[in-house]
Amino acid sequence: MSCLEVKNITVGYDKEIDVLKNITINLEENESVSIIGANGAGKSTLVKTISGLITPKTGDVLYNDVSTVGMKPHEIVRMGIVHVPEDGGTFKSLSIEENLNIACLDPSSLEKNKELVYKFFPPLVQKRKDRADSLSGGQRKMLSVGKAIMANPKLLLLDDISMGLAPKVVYDLYDMLKELTSELKIPTLVIEQIVEIALTFSSRAYCMSQGEIVMSGLSKDLINDEEVKRSYLGI
Ligand SMILES: Nc1ncnc2c1ncn2[C@@H]1O[C@H](COP(=O)(O)OP(=O)(O)O)[C@@H](O)[C@H]1O
Ligand SMILES: [Mg+2]
Repeated sequence: MSCLEVKNITVGYDKEIDVLKNITINLEENESVSIIGANGAGKSTLVKTISGLITPKTGDVLYNDVSTVGMKPHEIVRMGIVHVPEDGGTFKSLSIEENLNIACLDPSSLEKNKELVYKFFPPLVQKRKDRADSLSGGQRKMLSVGKAIMANPKLLLLDDISMGLAPKVVYDLYDMLKELTSELKIPTLVIEQIVEIALTFSSRAYCMSQGEIVMSGLSKDLINDEEVKRSYLGI
């Protein structure tokens, strides 16, 4: 069964220009799906629409068959759709522990969730009392994902978490994420600029160009597709 269905949405930041044009995607339970596409294709706009930060002009977004269009972002988070934004969403002047504490929505799961975060992202353990701005770029992204875990996600939306990180750090981060999402069985929608990583992490992918889905399929097929190789992998 699809846990997320985005149906024919059209989205724009103003009346005249549509940034997303009739986008339809879906995500099944226990599935990791990636969205790839050049800068400006509309990937972040799509994720922001799913998390309720932007309301589509037309079309629908269904989560477990319930329309989320018109709901407030905090209501959508409560339903279990948790978005790790492009900028990470951490508070620099707060400690790691404080960042995690304030991201928890259900006090009864505070300790359990923190244990999970420290289990999946061991580099944060030593740093728990330190301010977030003392973290390396990779650790800061671990904290961003950790904050999402604190909110008891049933669907994770990850927007370009590799931005600004060295490739080795990105590979390590995705290895940790793979363990986390498989063990906790969280379906994940991944926006990732490093297309090879996106297609390795996900089982299916959509390619976006100028606000439209131009290709989709199994990641293992797309990674060998000549058009994908030429357009996105630079080979
Ligand atoms: N807040 C905004 N106001 C107006 N236009 C925006 C805004 N955010 C993004 N856009 C435009 O929407 C298009 C898609 O942007 P975005 O969704 O950020 O793409 P991507 O994440 O694929 O790089 C771009 O042309 C961008 O300039
Ligand atoms: Mg983006």
